[in-house]
Amino acid sequence: MEQDQGDEAQKALNVQLARSQTDYKRQAKGRYAFWETQPVTQFVENGEAAEGPIDAPKTIQDVRQEPYTLPDSFEWCVCDLNDDAVAHEVYELLSNNYVEDDDNMFRFNYSAGFLKYCLLCPGHRLEWLVGVRVRASHKLVGFISGVPAHIRANSQTVPMVEINFLCVHKKLRSKRLAPVLIKEITRRVNLCGIWQAAYTAGVLLPKPVATCRYYHRSLNPRKLIDVGFSRLAPRMTMARTMKLYKLPDTPATPGLREIRASDAEQVAELLNTHLQRYKVTQVFTPEEVAHWFQNVDNVINAYVVESPDSPGRVTDLVSFYTLPSSILGHPQHTELKAAYLYYNVSTVTPLKQLVSDAMVLAAARGYDVFNALDLMQNSTFLKDLKFGQGDGQLHYYLYNWRMAGGHSIAPQDVGLVLM
Ligand SMILES: CC(C)(COP(=O)(O)OP(=O)(O)OC[C@H]1O[C@@H](n2cnc3c(N)ncnc32)[C@H](O)[C@@H]1OP(=O)(O)O)[C@@H](O)C(=O)NCCC(=O)NCCS
Repeated sequence: MEQDQGDEAQKALNVQLARSQTDYKRQAKGRYAFWETQPVTQFVENGEAAEGPIDAPKTIQDVRQEPYTLPDSFEWCVCDLNDDAVAHEVYELLSNNYVEDDDNMFRFNYSAGFLKYCLLCPGHRLEWLVGVRVRASHKLVGFISGVPAHIRANSQTVPMVEINFLCVHKKLRSKRLAPVLIKEITRRVNLCGIWQAAYTAGVLLPKPVATCRYYHRSLNPRKLIDVGFSRLAPRMTMARTMKLYKLPDTPATPGLREIRASDAEQVAELLNTHLQRYKVTQVFTPEEVAHWFQNVDNVINAYVVESPDSPGRVTDLVSFYTLPSSILGHPQHTELKAAYLYYNVSTVTPLKQLVSDAMVLAAARGYDVFNALDLMQNSTFLKDLKFGQGDGQLHYYLYNWRMAGGHSIAPQDVGLVLM
């Protein structure tokens, strides 16, 4: 949600302070019954450890062969998203039980098409799409996923998995099912000889590699205000607010066009070169670029600038993915259509112009809001492009990998976006 000015900002600050005090107490008392047993950087370390794996090296033979035990009435399943019926079940679980904002006004509503795109990516393994079903009814009540990615932390590039979509049905919360899901996916990933993972969460766990903040740019301010996502600023009318956020009808950049599969080699080179400047980032193969950067309506949009001076040469990239939220309990509106900024590379076109063009394209496609994190170089344009600070934080974590001394890095050193 967008944070307000004045009193509201103070209120939000107080809530944040209270929350961080609770977090602080929890850190100080050592109250992470599960995470303290895991190979993750802990809050209290002497700050001297070298960068690298936390666990002693293991082989596949060392990995437990049997799945972890679930309570009797539940069983493990593989969620084969190639099967539309299964994809729909995962969609249903998440759309009813996945992440909500603190005030329970909005809930992420990843589409089934998006889940397929995200989880059936190059190198995916179906056994890493882990479900929990009720034995008797077969109802899907838990999920966690992993997809492979090469992640570079400072100078080392490590084959990892990106863990996402951890979800336990609302009726089964606080029963310690999440740690079992996490241990089981870890086991399945370890069985493939992968020992590290990257993941993000809104909650504070031991110990973030980085903490980023969400920013929001209104595209449809009237609706955002109607549904309580943002508020009319003091001394502003609706008409003036709409004027403030009005965007041009067409993008400004000559040569901006939809990415094509045939751009993959060039874009991989452009992107990997750009990402070298960050401390934690993903390294993309051309095949991965062809998958993660394409145009699929309501899933992913990616555009490149082809140099008007030398046809065929791609100089810039801008991309965003689609993640709507359900609006909970509103009489009129049921869905907030949000675009999330993904990866950008600017070598010729200024970054601000690229992102502005992306917002123009998103507005024309009916998105209500354009979101971005303050990572990579995003802080350089957020203010000018009229993004407002959100109340959400996103913590980045690595499993079984410690950054030098266990220290965190700044948002602008993060070059990793997880959908
Ligand atoms: C996240 C979720 C699966 C946790 O399940 P739960 O029933 O609330 O909690 P459980 O009793 O099973 O497990 C609690 C443990 O999981 C940890 N945990 C909670 N949320 C977590 C997260 N997002 N990532 C990793 N671990 C998490 C807790 O810290 C706790 O471990 P600790 O004792 O070391 O502190 C559940 O709350 C949920 O589905 N929430 C909505 C979706 C969501 O937020 N998903 C995570 C997106 S990052």
